[in-house]
Amino acid sequence: MQIIRALDELQTVLSLGHYATDTLALVPTMGALHDGHLALVAEGKRVADRVAATIFVNPTQFNDPKDLERYPRTEEADLEKLEAAGCDLVWLPTPDQLYPAGFATSISVKGVSERWEGEHRPGHFDGVATVVAKLLLAVRPGVAIFGEKDWQQLAVIRRMATDLGLGIGILGYPTVREADGLAMSSRNALLSAAERAQAVAIPRVLADVSREILTGEAIAAALARGKARLLDAGFSEVDYLALVDERSLEPLESSGEHMRLLVAAKLGAVRLIDNYSVTSE
Ligand code: PAJ
Repeated sequence: MQIIRALDELQTVLSLGHYATDTLALVPTMGALHDGHLALVAEGKRVADRVAATIFVNPTQFNDPKDLERYPRTEEADLEKLEAAGCDLVWLPTPDQLYPAGFATSISVKGVSERWEGEHRPGHFDGVATVVAKLLLAVRPGVAIFGEKDWQQLAVIRRMATDLGLGIGILGYPTVREADGLAMSSRNALLSAAERAQAVAIPRVLADVSREILTGEAIAAALARGKARLLDAGFSEVDYLALVDERSLEPLESSGEHMRLLVAAKLGAVRLIDNYSVTSE
């Protein structure tokens, strides 16, 4: 696996031709890698000849400086995991390479970014869209792979790539979960043992609310019950528990197709997000 830090080194390696655009998949990450990230790398190997990953804790997408400060950083272990997963190249840019002095450009996606995470984390999706555009333009893969775990992020990135005409395929990959159903997340490492046990309420509530909606129960009542259950389970705050159209991210008041539940809730100092497809299949 080639480990690259400098942008000019990346450009040299990419120009050698082993990483022709059509045959390269890119998996952007912020490190603290777990099996969810590694599943994206495996998917990259399935759909392309070569896989590249990036590790960059992007400061511009953290609306809370404390969250940025305590974000887990495990570079050595990350590199070992990527190598074992068969990753061909990893780029670890430094902030000054992506944001040179005087950097003044921001990509802001309207519509799909506005509600939910957009409302609760002002500026977050501008930071995500801008850094992802920069990473994609620097590596120029044929496809880039993102997790459905961050459903709204995936929608924002798809919109950005289409609108800018990047010509890079954006692929989504299903959420990888722990045995008890909790979605894998780098932030899970920040939970105490007691909080980790409480966190399982998220996937349980999502499955229950989904079932209730599919059996025809009133949506508002099902969502209110779900929210109350999260608070009972020990969450201090539920930022949102919503039923949305999974394409537009607009809230749904009646049952239909393309339904997805979105949730964000705080357990101690840790904010967890998840989502769940509401379908009878
Ligand atoms: P990060 O949280 O490190 O996630 C990197 C990629 O892994 C994202 O596409 C995310 O959706 C995916 N992922 C995380 N947990 C997952 C899980 N349990 N199952 C499947 N996929 C999962 O998301 C980011 O970094 C950043 O915002 C980034 C896109 C890299 C831009 O900075």
